[in-house]
Amino acid sequence: TTRILTGITTTGTPHLGNYAGAIRPAIVASRDAQVDSFYFLADYHALIKCDDPLRIQRSRLEIAATWLACGLDTDKATFYRQSDIPEIPELTWLLTCVTGKGLLNRAHAYKASVDKNLEGGEDPDAGVTMGLFSYPVLMAADILMFNAHKVPVGRDQIQHVEMARDIAQRFNHLFGQGKELFTLPEAVIEEEVATLPGLDGRKMSKSYDNTIPLFGSAKQLKDAIARIVTDSREPGEPKDPDSSHLYTLYQAFATSEQLAEFRADLLAGLAWGEAKHCLFQLLDNELGEARERYQALIVRPNDLEDILLAGAGKARRIATPFLGELREAVGLRSFR
Ligand code: TYM
Repeated sequence: TTRILTGITTTGTPHLGNYAGAIRPAIVASRDAQVDSFYFLADYHALIKCDDPLRIQRSRLEIAATWLACGLDTDKATFYRQSDIPEIPELTWLLTCVTGKGLLNRAHAYKASVDKNLEGGEDPDAGVTMGLFSYPVLMAADILMFNAHKVPVGRDQIQHVEMARDIAQRFNHLFGQGKELFTLPEAVIEEEVATLPGLDGRKMSKSYDNTIPLFGSAKQLKDAIARIVTDSREPGEPKDPDSSHLYTLYQAFATSEQLAEFRADLLAGLAWGEAKHCLFQLLDNELGEARERYQALIVRPNDLEDILLAGAGKARRIATPFLGELREAVGLRSFR
Protein backbone atom coordinates (compact mmCIF):
# COMPACT_ATOMS: atom_id res chain seq x y z
CA THR A 1 0.00 0.00 0.00
CA THR A 2 0.93 3.61 -0.55
CA ARG A 3 0.65 6.16 2.24
CA ILE A 4 -0.69 9.54 1.19
CA LEU A 5 -0.74 12.51 3.54
CA THR A 6 -1.73 16.15 3.31
CA GLY A 7 -2.91 19.03 5.50
CA ILE A 8 -4.54 22.44 5.34
CA THR A 9 -3.65 25.36 7.60
CA THR A 10 -6.62 26.45 9.68
CA THR A 11 -6.52 30.19 9.30
CA GLY A 12 -9.36 30.86 6.91
CA THR A 13 -12.48 29.68 5.18
CA PRO A 14 -11.78 26.96 2.61
CA HIS A 15 -11.62 28.33 -0.93
CA LEU A 16 -11.71 26.85 -4.40
CA GLY A 17 -7.91 26.68 -4.55
CA ASN A 18 -7.80 24.44 -1.46
CA TYR A 19 -10.58 22.32 -2.92
CA ALA A 20 -9.18 21.85 -6.42
CA GLY A 21 -5.53 21.76 -5.35
CA ALA A 22 -5.79 19.63 -2.22
CA ILE A 23 -9.15 18.34 -1.00
CA ARG A 24 -10.69 16.96 -4.19
CA PRO A 25 -7.63 14.99 -5.37
CA ALA A 26 -6.98 13.78 -1.83
CA ILE A 27 -10.47 12.39 -1.45
CA VAL A 28 -10.35 10.70 -4.85
CA ALA A 29 -7.00 9.13 -3.93
CA SER A 30 -8.29 7.92 -0.56
CA ARG A 31 -10.87 5.70 -2.25
CA ASP A 32 -8.20 3.49 -3.82
CA ALA A 33 -8.01 0.15 -1.99
CA GLN A 34 -4.20 0.25 -2.26
CA VAL A 35 -3.98 3.62 -0.49
CA ASP A 36 -3.71 4.43 3.19
CA SER A 37 -4.51 8.13 3.61
CA PHE A 38 -3.75 10.66 6.36
CA TYR A 39 -5.49 14.03 6.17
CA PHE A 40 -5.29 16.62 8.88
CA LEU A 41 -6.01 20.15 10.05
CA ALA A 42 -2.68 21.94 10.35
CA ASP A 43 -3.71 23.96 13.39
CA TYR A 44 -0.21 24.31 14.87
CA HIS A 45 0.80 25.82 11.54
CA ALA A 46 -2.11 28.23 11.89
CA LEU A 47 -0.53 29.78 15.01
CA ILE A 48 2.39 30.92 12.86
CA LYS A 49 0.32 33.35 10.84
CA CYS A 50 -2.61 34.14 13.08
CA ASP A 51 -3.00 35.35 16.66
CA ASP A 52 -6.77 35.52 16.64
CA PRO A 53 -8.06 32.51 18.64
CA LEU A 54 -11.65 32.89 17.46
CA ARG A 55 -10.62 32.85 13.84
CA ILE A 56 -8.50 29.75 14.31
CA GLN A 57 -11.27 27.95 16.16
CA ARG A 58 -13.82 28.85 13.48
CA SER A 59 -11.50 27.83 10.68
CA ARG A 60 -10.80 24.41 12.24
CA LEU A 61 -14.52 23.76 12.39
CA GLU A 62 -15.06 24.93 8.81
CA ILE A 63 -12.21 22.93 7.37
CA ALA A 64 -13.25 19.78 9.25
CA ALA A 65 -16.83 20.13 7.97
CA THR A 66 -15.47 20.74 4.46
CA TRP A 67 -13.53 17.47 4.23
CA LEU A 68 -16.53 15.52 5.45
CA ALA A 69 -19.01 17.36 3.22
CA CYS A 70 -16.77 16.67 0.22
CA GLY A 71 -17.11 12.97 0.90
CA LEU A 72 -14.09 11.87 2.93
CA ASP A 73 -14.71 8.39 4.37
CA THR A 74 -13.24 8.59 7.88
CA ASP A 75 -13.51 4.84 8.39
CA LYS A 76 -10.96 4.35 5.65
CA ALA A 77 -8.87 7.53 5.87
CA THR A 78 -7.20 8.76 9.07
CA PHE A 79 -8.54 12.27 9.67
CA TYR A 80 -7.25 14.32 12.61
CA ARG A 81 -6.10 17.63 14.05
CA GLN A 82 -2.34 18.15 14.17
CA SER A 83 -2.69 19.61 17.69
CA ASP A 84 -4.24 16.37 18.98
CA ILE A 85 -0.99 14.53 18.23
CA PRO A 86 1.63 15.54 20.85
CA GLU A 87 4.14 13.29 19.11
CA ILE A 88 4.31 15.82 16.26
CA PRO A 89 5.86 18.71 18.23
CA GLU A 90 8.17 16.21 19.91
CA LEU A 91 9.34 14.90 16.55
CA THR A 92 9.71 18.51 15.40
CA TRP A 93 12.38 18.98 18.04
CA LEU A 94 14.28 15.84 17.03
CA LEU A 95 14.24 17.08 13.44
CA THR A 96 15.14 20.66 14.38
CA CYS A 97 18.38 19.34 15.85
CA VAL A 98 19.50 17.90 12.50
CA THR A 99 18.24 20.71 10.25
CA GLY A 100 20.79 23.20 8.99
CA LYS A 101 19.90 26.81 9.58
CA GLY A 102 21.08 27.47 6.03
CA LEU A 103 18.40 25.16 4.67
CA LEU A 104 15.69 27.16 6.42
CA ASN A 105 17.23 30.46 5.29
CA ARG A 106 16.29 29.37 1.78
CA ALA A 107 12.60 28.64 2.52
CA HIS A 108 10.29 30.75 0.31
CA ALA A 109 8.00 32.04 3.04
CA TYR A 110 10.91 33.22 5.16
CA LYS A 111 12.78 34.68 2.20
CA ALA A 112 9.68 36.58 1.09
CA SER A 113 9.48 38.27 4.51
CA VAL A 114 13.16 39.13 4.46
CA ASP A 115 12.96 40.56 0.93
CA LYS A 116 9.99 42.68 1.87
CA ASN A 117 11.78 44.04 4.93
CA LEU A 118 14.88 44.86 2.93
CA GLU A 119 12.81 46.69 0.34
CA GLY A 120 11.25 48.77 3.10
CA GLY A 121 14.71 49.53 4.52
CA GLU A 122 14.00 47.58 7.70
CA ASP A 123 15.88 44.98 9.67
CA PRO A 124 15.76 41.80 7.52
CA ASP A 125 14.16 39.77 10.30
CA ALA A 126 11.66 42.37 11.47
CA GLY A 127 8.41 40.64 12.39
CA VAL A 128 9.80 37.18 11.64
CA THR A 129 9.02 34.71 14.42
CA MET A 130 10.83 31.46 15.09
CA GLY A 131 7.54 29.79 14.16
CA LEU A 132 7.72 31.21 10.63
CA PHE A 133 11.40 30.38 10.35
CA SER A 134 10.92 26.78 11.51
CA TYR A 135 7.70 26.22 9.59
CA PRO A 136 9.26 23.65 7.21
CA VAL A 137 10.52 21.54 10.15
CA LEU A 138 7.04 21.27 11.65
CA MET A 139 5.75 20.32 8.22
CA ALA A 140 8.50 17.71 7.87
CA ALA A 141 7.39 16.22 11.21
CA ASP A 142 3.78 16.01 9.92
CA ILE A 143 4.94 14.06 6.90
CA LEU A 144 7.66 11.89 8.42
CA MET A 145 5.64 10.95 11.52
CA PHE A 146 3.48 8.73 9.33
CA ASN A 147 6.13 7.73 6.78
CA ALA A 148 4.07 9.14 3.93
CA HIS A 149 5.21 8.18 0.44
CA LYS A 150 3.17 10.79 -1.40
CA VAL A 151 2.17 14.29 -0.40
CA PRO A 152 -0.38 15.88 -2.74
CA VAL A 153 0.04 19.67 -2.58
CA GLY A 154 -0.17 22.83 -4.64
CA ARG A 155 2.97 24.18 -6.27
CA ASP A 156 3.64 26.58 -3.39
CA GLN A 157 4.31 23.64 -1.06
CA ILE A 158 6.75 21.63 -3.20
CA GLN A 159 9.80 23.19 -1.61
CA HIS A 160 8.56 22.20 1.84
CA VAL A 161 8.14 18.58 0.79
CA GLU A 162 11.64 18.61 -0.67
CA MET A 163 12.97 19.96 2.61
CA ALA A 164 11.17 17.16 4.47
CA ARG A 165 13.00 14.76 2.19
CA ASP A 166 16.37 16.38 2.92
CA ILE A 167 15.72 16.31 6.64
CA ALA A 168 14.65 12.66 6.50
CA GLN A 169 17.78 11.73 4.59
CA ARG A 170 19.98 13.46 7.12
CA PHE A 171 18.21 11.81 10.05
CA ASN A 172 18.42 8.37 8.42
CA HIS A 173 22.09 8.89 7.76
CA LEU A 174 22.88 9.98 11.33
CA PHE A 175 20.69 7.56 13.28
CA GLY A 176 19.46 4.82 10.96
CA GLN A 177 22.46 2.50 11.35
CA GLY A 178 21.93 1.40 7.79
CA LYS A 179 18.15 1.19 8.24
CA GLU A 180 15.68 3.68 6.69
CA LEU A 181 14.01 5.13 9.78
CA PHE A 182 12.00 7.55 7.63
CA THR A 183 10.48 7.00 4.22
CA LEU A 184 11.53 9.70 1.75
CA PRO A 185 8.35 11.57 0.74
CA GLU A 186 7.48 12.84 -2.70
CA ALA A 187 5.27 15.81 -3.63
CA VAL A 188 2.39 15.07 -6.00
CA ILE A 189 0.94 17.90 -8.09
CA GLU A 190 -2.34 17.89 -9.99
CA GLU A 191 -1.08 19.28 -13.27
CA GLU A 192 -4.26 20.98 -14.55
CA VAL A 193 -4.85 22.85 -11.32
CA ALA A 194 -1.30 23.24 -10.04
CA THR A 195 -2.03 26.84 -9.11
CA LEU A 196 -5.63 27.92 -9.24
CA PRO A 197 -5.79 31.66 -9.95
CA GLY A 198 -7.89 33.97 -7.81
CA LEU A 199 -10.22 36.82 -8.80
CA ASP A 200 -7.32 39.05 -9.87
CA GLY A 201 -5.34 36.35 -11.71
CA ARG A 202 -2.70 35.93 -9.02
CA LYS A 203 -2.62 32.63 -7.12
CA MET A 204 -5.86 32.19 -5.19
CA SER A 205 -4.83 32.81 -1.61
CA LYS A 206 -6.17 33.97 1.72
CA SER A 207 -3.27 36.41 1.87
CA TYR A 208 -4.23 38.15 -1.40
CA ASP A 209 -7.92 38.42 -0.52
CA ASN A 210 -8.80 37.12 -3.98
CA THR A 211 -10.50 33.86 -3.06
CA ILE A 212 -13.78 32.28 -4.08
CA PRO A 213 -15.23 30.66 -0.95
CA LEU A 214 -15.99 26.98 -1.42
CA PHE A 215 -19.25 26.80 0.50
CA GLY A 216 -20.62 30.31 0.48
CA SER A 217 -24.28 30.64 -0.46
CA ALA A 218 -25.20 30.65 -4.17
CA LYS A 219 -25.42 34.43 -3.88
CA GLN A 220 -21.92 34.72 -2.39
CA LEU A 221 -20.60 32.49 -5.14
CA LYS A 222 -22.26 34.65 -7.77
CA ASP A 223 -20.94 37.86 -6.20
CA ALA A 224 -17.40 36.51 -6.04
CA ILE A 225 -17.51 35.42 -9.69
CA ALA A 226 -18.79 38.86 -10.67
CA ARG A 227 -15.54 40.30 -9.27
CA ILE A 228 -13.28 38.18 -11.52
CA VAL A 229 -11.11 40.61 -13.47
CA THR A 230 -11.45 40.31 -17.27
CA ASP A 231 -10.05 42.33 -20.15
CA SER A 232 -12.02 45.07 -21.86
CA ARG A 233 -13.15 43.15 -24.93
CA GLU A 234 -16.76 43.90 -25.76
CA PRO A 235 -19.54 41.34 -26.25
CA GLY A 236 -19.18 39.90 -29.75
CA GLU A 237 -15.42 40.42 -29.86
CA PRO A 238 -13.42 37.15 -29.78
CA LYS A 239 -11.86 36.43 -26.38
CA ASP A 240 -8.49 34.79 -25.82
CA PRO A 241 -9.10 31.82 -23.48
CA ASP A 242 -5.41 31.25 -22.87
CA SER A 243 -4.86 34.69 -21.35
CA SER A 244 -8.01 34.53 -19.23
CA HIS A 245 -7.95 33.29 -15.65
CA LEU A 246 -11.71 32.94 -15.82
CA TYR A 247 -11.03 30.23 -18.38
CA THR A 248 -8.41 28.62 -16.13
CA LEU A 249 -10.97 28.49 -13.32
CA TYR A 250 -13.53 26.94 -15.66
CA GLN A 251 -10.96 24.40 -16.79
CA ALA A 252 -10.33 23.16 -13.26
CA PHE A 253 -13.95 22.04 -12.93
CA ALA A 254 -15.17 21.20 -16.43
CA THR A 255 -15.23 17.91 -18.33
CA SER A 256 -13.28 17.98 -21.58
CA GLU A 257 -16.49 18.39 -23.61
CA GLN A 258 -17.70 21.27 -21.43
CA LEU A 259 -14.31 22.90 -21.77
CA ALA A 260 -14.18 22.55 -25.56
CA GLU A 261 -17.60 24.14 -25.85
CA PHE A 262 -16.73 27.02 -23.53
CA ARG A 263 -13.53 27.64 -25.43
CA ALA A 264 -15.37 27.75 -28.76
CA ASP A 265 -17.96 30.15 -27.29
CA LEU A 266 -15.26 32.52 -26.03
CA LEU A 267 -13.51 32.49 -29.40
CA ALA A 268 -16.84 33.25 -31.02
CA GLY A 269 -17.31 36.36 -28.87
CA LEU A 270 -19.26 35.25 -25.77
CA ALA A 271 -19.72 38.30 -23.49
CA TRP A 272 -17.72 38.22 -20.23
CA GLY A 273 -20.97 38.53 -18.28
CA GLU A 274 -22.28 35.39 -19.97
CA ALA A 275 -18.99 33.61 -19.39
CA LYS A 276 -19.29 34.40 -15.68
CA HIS A 277 -22.76 32.97 -15.66
CA CYS A 278 -21.44 29.75 -17.24
CA LEU A 279 -18.76 29.49 -14.58
CA PHE A 280 -21.33 30.05 -11.84
CA GLN A 281 -23.51 27.24 -13.16
CA LEU A 282 -20.60 24.87 -13.46
CA LEU A 283 -19.48 25.51 -9.87
CA ASP A 284 -22.97 25.55 -8.43
CA ASN A 285 -23.55 22.13 -10.03
CA GLU A 286 -20.35 20.65 -8.73
CA LEU A 287 -20.68 22.08 -5.23
CA GLY A 288 -24.42 22.34 -4.56
CA GLU A 289 -24.95 19.00 -2.82
CA ALA A 290 -21.76 19.19 -0.81
CA ARG A 291 -22.77 22.71 0.28
CA GLU A 292 -25.96 21.30 1.79
CA ARG A 293 -24.04 18.61 3.64
CA TYR A 294 -21.62 21.28 4.85
CA GLN A 295 -24.41 23.41 6.25
CA ALA A 296 -25.78 20.43 8.16
CA LEU A 297 -22.36 19.52 9.59
CA ILE A 298 -21.21 22.97 10.64
CA VAL A 299 -24.01 23.24 13.20
CA ARG A 300 -22.97 19.94 14.85
CA PRO A 301 -19.59 20.68 16.46
CA ASN A 302 -20.00 17.81 18.96
CA ASP A 303 -20.19 15.27 16.16
CA LEU A 304 -17.18 16.82 14.46
CA GLU A 305 -15.26 16.64 17.74
CA ASP A 306 -16.06 12.91 18.10
CA ILE A 307 -14.92 12.19 14.56
CA LEU A 308 -11.66 14.10 15.00
CA LEU A 309 -10.87 12.50 18.37
CA ALA A 310 -11.41 9.05 16.89
CA GLY A 311 -9.07 10.03 14.05
CA ALA A 312 -6.45 11.26 16.52
CA GLY A 313 -6.67 7.93 18.35
CA LYS A 314 -6.05 6.08 15.11
CA ALA A 315 -3.12 8.34 14.22
CA ARG A 316 -1.51 8.02 17.65
CA ARG A 317 -1.62 4.23 17.51
CA ILE A 318 0.99 4.69 14.80
CA ALA A 319 2.76 7.79 16.10
CA THR A 320 3.35 6.71 19.72
CA PRO A 321 5.31 3.49 19.06
CA PHE A 322 7.18 5.06 16.12
CA LEU A 323 8.28 8.03 18.20
CA GLY A 324 9.48 5.52 20.82
CA GLU A 325 11.76 3.98 18.19
CA LEU A 326 13.05 7.38 17.15
CA ARG A 327 13.79 8.39 20.74
CA GLU A 328 15.83 5.23 21.14
CA ALA A 329 17.64 5.86 17.89
CA VAL A 330 18.89 9.28 19.07
CA GLY A 331 19.91 8.01 22.51
CA LEU A 332 16.87 8.77 24.64
CA ARG A 333 16.11 5.36 26.02
CA SER A 334 15.05 4.06 29.41
CA PHE A 335 17.80 3.21 31.94
CA ARG A 336 15.93 0.11 33.02
P1 TYM B 1 -2.35 25.80 2.84
O1 TYM B 1 -3.28 25.73 3.99
O2 TYM B 1 -1.82 27.12 2.45
O3 TYM B 1 -3.06 25.18 1.59
C1 TYM B 1 -3.63 23.86 1.63
C2 TYM B 1 -3.42 23.17 0.30
O4 TYM B 1 -4.10 23.89 -0.73
C3 TYM B 1 -3.20 24.17 -1.77
N1 TYM B 1 -3.57 25.46 -2.37
C4 TYM B 1 -3.77 25.62 -3.66
N2 TYM B 1 -3.71 24.75 -4.70
C5 TYM B 1 -3.96 25.22 -5.91
N3 TYM B 1 -4.27 26.52 -6.15
C6 TYM B 1 -4.33 27.43 -5.16
N4 TYM B 1 -4.63 28.70 -5.42
C7 TYM B 1 -4.08 26.99 -3.83
N5 TYM B 1 -4.06 27.60 -2.62
C8 TYM B 1 -3.74 26.63 -1.74
C9 TYM B 1 -1.82 24.23 -1.09
O5 TYM B 1 -0.77 24.01 -1.97
C10 TYM B 1 -1.93 23.12 -0.10
O6 TYM B 1 -1.66 21.87 -0.71
N6 TYM B 1 1.88 24.15 4.92
C11 TYM B 1 0.64 23.74 4.28
C12 TYM B 1 -0.19 22.85 5.19
C13 TYM B 1 0.57 21.69 5.69
C14 TYM B 1 0.89 20.51 4.98
C15 TYM B 1 1.61 19.70 5.89
C16 TYM B 1 0.62 20.07 3.69
C17 TYM B 1 1.08 21.56 6.94
N7 TYM B 1 1.70 20.37 7.07
C18 TYM B 1 2.08 18.46 5.52
C19 TYM B 1 1.12 18.81 3.33
C20 TYM B 1 1.83 18.02 4.24
C21 TYM B 1 -0.18 24.97 3.95
O7 TYM B 1 -0.04 26.01 4.56
O8 TYM B 1 -1.15 24.78 3.03
